[in-house]
Amino acid sequence: MLSASNIVKHFDIGGARTPVLREVSVDIEQGEFVAVVGRSGSGKTTLLNVLSTLIRPDAGVLRYRDEDLTGLADQRLNTLRQSDFAVIFQFHHLLPYLTVLENSLLPFMRSVRTVPRAATERARRCLDRVGLADKADRLPGSLSGGEQQRVAIARALVKDSKVLFADEPTGSLDKGTGGEIMALLADLHRDGLTVVMVTHDPDYAAMAGRTIYLEDGRVVAMAACPA
Ligand SMILES: Nc1ncnc2c1ncn2[C@@H]1O[C@H](COP(=O)(O)OP(=O)(O)O)[C@@H](O)[C@H]1O
Ligand SMILES: [Mg+2]
Repeated sequence: MLSASNIVKHFDIGGARTPVLREVSVDIEQGEFVAVVGRSGSGKTTLLNVLSTLIRPDAGVLRYRDEDLTGLADQRLNTLRQSDFAVIFQFHHLLPYLTVLENSLLPFMRSVRTVPRAATERARRCLDRVGLADKADRLPGSLSGGEQQRVAIARALVKDSKVLFADEPTGSLDKGTGGEIMALLADLHRDGLTVVMVTHDPDYAAMAGRTIYLEDGRVVAMAACPA
């Protein structure tokens, strides 16, 4: 479904052009749940950002459903990302002055001036899916950390995305709350969503079907997790 070959990415670190991804190749099958693990600084976030087309690689090829994305213009890449990809981060990035429902509608607000009623209904269903139906009119600040991350997940689901990219989605949560978020991601995966998740936690990586280990910008191992 998503295939990256020989991806190279450099960043300017301390004035020196430094390789952060060194010829990374990964294939993500439709319906897979893949964990990306590795030490801090090994390039996990950069890889996720390349796969989700948030940043462009310096070299290598990224293909999605048999389309070469490498040469696509920004506008077409944005359209594809908005329709097929969803991203959640360690911090939820909710807007504090919008309600839970309004936050979950944000993907629609960027593209249309008035939110269609069908979108509002869909957002309510997504909030229901993440267990927040009764908190739609609250402000994020009045929710717990786990609930805030659930809103971010609802916002990611509202567009009927095909691939969910999650960069340490439990990174700012305690273990119990993190476990609830992981159970929710596993549920969504069972329902057919393709999930690519960066995590530090071996227990959470074990919930994925496969783990990709990064070390210093290289894939050093790939292991299927026992079911
Ligand atoms: N935008 C950036 N500009 C400069 N250096 C960056 C940038 N993003 C990441 N880096 C550097 O690239 C390396 C890999 O970062 P990252 O992909 O965030 O690693 P990880 O997510 O595994 O901790 C780190 O040394 C980091 O400091
Ligand atoms: Mg990171």
